[in-house]
Amino acid sequence: MSQRSQWKSSTGFILASAGSAIGLGALWKFPYMAGMFGGGAFLFMFLAFTILVGLPLLIMEFAVGQLGRTYTTELFGQLTGRKWLNGIAWIGNLAVFVLFSFYSVIGGWIIVYFGFVLAQLFHIVPTHLHDLQFQAIISQPLYVVTGQAIFIALTCGIVMRGMQQGLEKASKLMMPLLLVFLIIIVVKTLSLDGAMDGVRFLFQPRVSEINMESMLFALGQSFFALSLGTTGMMTYASYASTDMPIKTSALTILIMNIAIAILAGLAIFPALETFGYQAKEGPGLLFIILPLVFEKIQFGTLFYAIFLVLFLFAALTSSISLLELNVSNFTRNNNRKRPTMALIISLAVFIVGVPATLSFGPLSHIQFGAGSIFDNMDFVFSNILLPIGALASTLAIGYAMEKVRLKTGFGNDPLKLFAIWYIFIRYILPVVILLVFILQLV
Ligand code: PHE
Repeated sequence: MSQRSQWKSSTGFILASAGSAIGLGALWKFPYMAGMFGGGAFLFMFLAFTILVGLPLLIMEFAVGQLGRTYTTELFGQLTGRKWLNGIAWIGNLAVFVLFSFYSVIGGWIIVYFGFVLAQLFHIVPTHLHDLQFQAIISQPLYVVTGQAIFIALTCGIVMRGMQQGLEKASKLMMPLLLVFLIIIVVKTLSLDGAMDGVRFLFQPRVSEINMESMLFALGQSFFALSLGTTGMMTYASYASTDMPIKTSALTILIMNIAIAILAGLAIFPALETFGYQAKEGPGLLFIILPLVFEKIQFGTLFYAIFLVLFLFAALTSSISLLELNVSNFTRNNNRKRPTMALIISLAVFIVGVPATLSFGPLSHIQFGAGSIFDNMDFVFSNILLPIGALASTLAIGYAMEKVRLKTGFGNDPLKLFAIWYIFIRYILPVVILLVFILQLV
């Protein structure tokens, strides 16, 4: 018997989808990518892709999920009348599996950092925030693998117990608090010496930094940050009733996501000069810079500990959407299988994820393709599976658009927004995604 869950209110749906979107993508990955690919140039491309490609795609995932009200490996076939197109959803399943495996690496780092900061706070270790040695910490297998295991276990625990309704109350508190904390940090960094150089770095687009590679990374980042291309957002929308406002939800999420990414950038780049770091620091950027900034604030250790909890929460509300997608496709609307499936998938994620964690330590000598094991997993996910998944979904849904239009009543708006959206989904997005994807190969 099917016992499909549902969001109880529009707020619940918006909070959950915003929770899925806002996570490591905006907070951790955006600043580090912007640092690697030219600051303002990257921000500019990221904004362009997020608005022109991301928004139509997000509305599409929402519309189709809400319309189909089923797991994605049935949805595509149902919508198009062609069962083989369900294969598209399997790309998404694979994608989020890979993502969860390396997402949990960073989730683990947050937990390990939190452990250290707590120990400092209670004077168990007589060190200061500036003693947190990023490289030394993440190369310690015992710490990071334990952190990763805890992160996956927390995610699994939440998903096992059914849809993430319980998180609604927590989200209402944690998300605004995260915003407040980011603003406090930004106010601090902007007061540091040489802050304006950092601000200029983030906002001034230097055309010379725009190339095919950085474009592909910017496209991947805009998908990553909005949880697009994996059908994850379709899954969340499939738990939404037909009266939930998907267009405004999509817009809200988009704006919040951009705001958080820019704040994260502003929390870091203006501080670089003061602490003598380069923007190209890589994945450690946030973990290296923020403790130093917090140290300059009164009660910094306490605030940093609170910030890490908020950061962890943001990461968890994203990772549960990663696990949820696979769980929903393996339980096929039967909630009784949920705990077992969540457990099995989490275990598999852990097994695949451990080498990625160790690639910052004992396995760091293994370098190929895009770099370390971790880099390669990220590359395969962000730059290959996401674009391909997004391309395939736009083609399939573009094909079934008449059905979408009739059932969603999208065509009746006076502004003719549907027509514009239709042209984007059917013609513009597939061409843009394909172009960026192919051009980086040659
Ligand atoms: N958007 C999430 C983040 O930025 C990651 C994610 C991608 C979640 C795809 C679900 C699906 O952290």
